[in-house]
Amino acid sequence: MVDLIVRNATLPDGRTGMDIACKQGIITAVEAEIGGEAEVTIDAGGWLVSPPFVDPHFHLDATLSLGRPRMNVSGTLLEGIALWGELKPMQSIDEIIDRGVRYCDLAVSMGIGAIRSHVDTCDDELKGVQALLDVRAKVKEYIDLQLVAFPQDGALRDPTAMTNTIRALDMGVDIVGGIPHFERTMADGAESIRLLCETAAERGLMVDLHCDETDDPMSRHIETLAFQSQRLGLQGRVAGSHLTSMHSMDNYYVSKLIPLMAEAEIHAIPNPLINILLQGRHDTYPKRRGLTRVRELRDAGINIGFGSDCVMDPWYSLGRADMLDVAHMGLHVGQLSSRQDMAWCFEAVTSNSAQIMGLEGYGVAPGCQANFNLLQARDTIEAIRLRAHRVAVIRRGKVVARNEPLSTRLYLDGRPERVDPAEFAPRS
Ligand code: FE2
Repeated sequence: MVDLIVRNATLPDGRTGMDIACKQGIITAVEAEIGGEAEVTIDAGGWLVSPPFVDPHFHLDATLSLGRPRMNVSGTLLEGIALWGELKPMQSIDEIIDRGVRYCDLAVSMGIGAIRSHVDTCDDELKGVQALLDVRAKVKEYIDLQLVAFPQDGALRDPTAMTNTIRALDMGVDIVGGIPHFERTMADGAESIRLLCETAAERGLMVDLHCDETDDPMSRHIETLAFQSQRLGLQGRVAGSHLTSMHSMDNYYVSKLIPLMAEAEIHAIPNPLINILLQGRHDTYPKRRGLTRVRELRDAGINIGFGSDCVMDPWYSLGRADMLDVAHMGLHVGQLSSRQDMAWCFEAVTSNSAQIMGLEGYGVAPGCQANFNLLQARDTIEAIRLRAHRVAVIRRGKVVARNEPLSTRLYLDGRPERVDPAEFAPRS
């Protein structure tokens, strides 16, 4: 007898009527009408079973701190960084742990199965690092948490940032981070990329830099990141987060840059909600919206995962750990509206991001880890349209979150008793 069978599911690739059997935390079969009994059986009713959402860019040390010690009045990235600088010395390790674990509760309830979180290393006590290492251990049964050592105030600009970043890696942080556009000069930004990539190469680690998160068309750190990745043999292990300057760059230059990025196998991580909110703040009209060139990067073969970046922190007052909100915004701002493009946006918050994080056993297939979501939608496009209700969240073969399907009682003469937004399937 297996532990769990989900019956009559639709899969992201369009297969319908599929049963999924799980034993000891692993998917043992995915096929029509699996025989036998299970300890737990879930009727998917034809709805979509997808692998977990993956958030490849987040700040778990800042999340849920909204309003402390004050609000971000200008709404800019730079005021957010200043505000975070005020909050850092005020918060205790226990507070950061408490907020981090509470966010993970919300995240798993919304179907997130893996998060890559940056953790600020510009603090001589490394409170955030200590806290998030503890959170990583606390949530490991239901969320794969990957940590990036992130010198928020600049690896070179802050006098102890580089030492503290190395200390964080020694303590068990997984990935090397950085923020070249926040260094004092373009030259220092380039130097920080060299130092950080060399550190990663020496230790056999991945790299994920906040890169060119600016409206400046001359901010060109992604070119340097691609160069250093190539020089140090880090192909496929380096991500450029944000890349908003690419929105404003000269088209001729971009025609040279994108092939260099593809050659270095850079992963791109735009953060649509945050990019559209923070960028273009110095513009009048027309107002640039800052999302990087998603379609052009994708068409050049570059792997792209959409990140959420922030929820209720100094940079963003909203958010609810909903990667379908992220996909929805990316779809709109990137004008990715064909059926094929919309389906790709779902991949940008699932399998593409799993590839960025190097997750093993990811997917709804025999041999994969028994991690998946049952969504109240018939396919991935409908999931984005509805920001579909998470009916069940399964981790390691166990149900860890459950929701009643959404359906509203109508009191209108001559009309049906109930309305369910998932009933409105497109006509082909
Ligand atoms: Fe970020």
